Amino acid sequence: MARSVLITGCSSGFGLDASVALAQKGWQVFPTMRNLDKRERLDKALAGAGVADRATVLQLDVDDAASITAALDRAGRLDAVVNNAGISLGGAFEDVDEADVRRVMETNFFGVLALTRAVLPGMRAQRSGHIVVVSSNSAFDGAPGMSAYTASKWAVEGWAECLAYEVTKFGIHVVLVEPGSYATDIWDSSPRIMPADGPYAEMGAIVEPAVDKQVIRRARDPREVADVIVKALESSKPKLRWPVGPDARIGHATHGIMPFGVRKAIVERVLGLHRWKP
Ligand SMILES: NC(=O)c1ccc[n+]([C@@H]2O[C@H](COP(=O)([O-])OP(=O)(O)OC[C@H]3O[C@@H](n4cnc5c(N)ncnc54)[C@H](OP(=O)(O)O)[C@@H]3O)[C@@H](O)[C@H]2O)c1
Repeated sequence: MARSVLITGCSSGFGLDASVALAQKGWQVFPTMRNLDKRERLDKALAGAGVADRATVLQLDVDDAASITAALDRAGRLDAVVNNAGISLGGAFEDVDEADVRRVMETNFFGVLALTRAVLPGMRAQRSGHIVVVSSNSAFDGAPGMSAYTASKWAVEGWAECLAYEVTKFGIHVVLVEPGSYATDIWDSSPRIMPADGPYAEMGAIVEPAVDKQVIRRARDPREVADVIVKALESSKPKLRWPVGPDARIGHATHGIMPFGVRKAIVERVLGLHRWKP
């Protein structure tokens, strides 16, 4: 019997690519998205790969408990879930409203907890399961204007590490996929809050073009991340952390070794922030 996986946030990006890649590997896939009006891109990709019959697309908004329950009822027994849905937010901490920060935490942190809480009883009963969380290299590498997003990913990292102690003995594996920069919609769809007359206006004016030029232009093919998700799901003893891409691997290797002052000086130089003298 085909193994089954439910994935969140499949209207674009890693979720879409992982749905196709897993279906190609013979999995029964339940790609989900919060707005089914956006399913055309996924439908085309599944059809193009000849695997549409292995996918059942469902509505699921990770911020909406009822939609989680309804999707899980439709999916039935699951071997794995991929908590992929996520949003980002740019802006200096002082410029960002608390409501915006809470929205990021709601989706990137509490949304992961809600879906995981809903699938754990079934996985414990069957004494098997993979719980994948698409975290980010950003969890460990703070950057100017990224405090809400970074906090949400750091939160999910700490939570997942604790969860791994609790559920591994029930045969359930917890996996953190930590991509570096990849070319998905998230860069365009995420709000950037930069008031022109605020104290951080100059910082934003320096950082924004540098990020657009140096980070986004170098962003890699998201199918690399989909392939790592497949690898983690097909591993019977997956490791906890899977950094993906050169920037994530360098961050992973140097985290805890390179003093923060050194890293900060490098990042400021790369972004041009050493020129900022407020
Ligand atoms: N791209 C990168 O460089 C990068 C690097 C590290 C980590 N990540 C992480 O990778 C994950 C996937 O992002 P992506 O890069 O593939 O970006 P993406 O193309 O923008 O995909 C994000 C997906 O999440 C969905 N989503 C947002 N809020 C949701 C909610 N409340 N419930 C259900 N779905 C929701 C979006 O749906 P809509 O279409 O309706 O908005 C979209 O399908 C995120 O967790 C992100 O933080 C991305």
